[in-house]
Amino acid sequence: MTFVRSPRVTVFPDSRRAAVVVAARLANAVQSNPALVLGLATGRTPVALYEELARATAARRLDWSRVTTFNLDEFLGLPPEHPASYRQFMEQHLFRHVNIRAENVNFLVGTADPAEECRRYEQAIAAAGGIDIQILGIGTNGHIGFNEPGPALQSRTHRVSLRPETRRSNAELFAGDADKVPAEALSMGMATILQARSVILLANGESKAECIERTVHGPLTTQLPASFLQLHHDVDVILDEAAAARLQPLSALP
Ligand code: PGA
Repeated sequence: MTFVRSPRVTVFPDSRRAAVVVAARLANAVQSNPALVLGLATGRTPVALYEELARATAARRLDWSRVTTFNLDEFLGLPPEHPASYRQFMEQHLFRHVNIRAENVNFLVGTADPAEECRRYEQAIAAAGGIDIQILGIGTNGHIGFNEPGPALQSRTHRVSLRPETRRSNAELFAGDADKVPAEALSMGMATILQARSVILLANGESKAECIERTVHGPLTTQLPASFLQLHHDVDVILDEAAAARLQPLSALP
């Protein structure tokens, strides 16, 4: 009997090679489906992916005019034009390098009424026909989007309090001062993420090795939100060697 293992894990010698391969997959997806709906992530990890995607776009003259994007999360209280907002991060790293239309870029607005904004976002994703490919990073604490570990998780887009380690890891956007990182955010929920037709999670470096081990080998627990990706039938976990260091070889698994 053959068991399909989910998630599928692919390990690259370094993060740049991983970015080149994932960028090629996304470029192929845009080419074969010009109306692709992409879910996007911020953070240090996807920066190389966006660089490679911008490069592939120029090299292949890819047309993004019908592509729609939805980002995972945004800081509560920051307007879209704030230099530390995730919206500006995406402008800088991807959107200004491709011919995406502003009206096809979907973002949670940190200054909107939170409950109303979360409802609006869920409706917008549904109206777009759902997300075809969702890109994810992972926090060292196992969060995806801003679904932080705890006794419970939220299924839908919601307002969330950020954990101290998450604020520290975002300090770079706020001149190195973790106290300046907003204490709250808006984030897609677990079901919002799990409803994407396929998911690509990227992780690099030894600081991610432990949460990747728990993501891949389980058990499912709200204390490690990424472990719920095991419930999805089409997840790729793309790692450099350092992030893969604690994974058991496939042959050792039951
Ligand atoms: P990082 O963040 O890419 O900066 O490590 C990932 C995340 O917190 O989701």
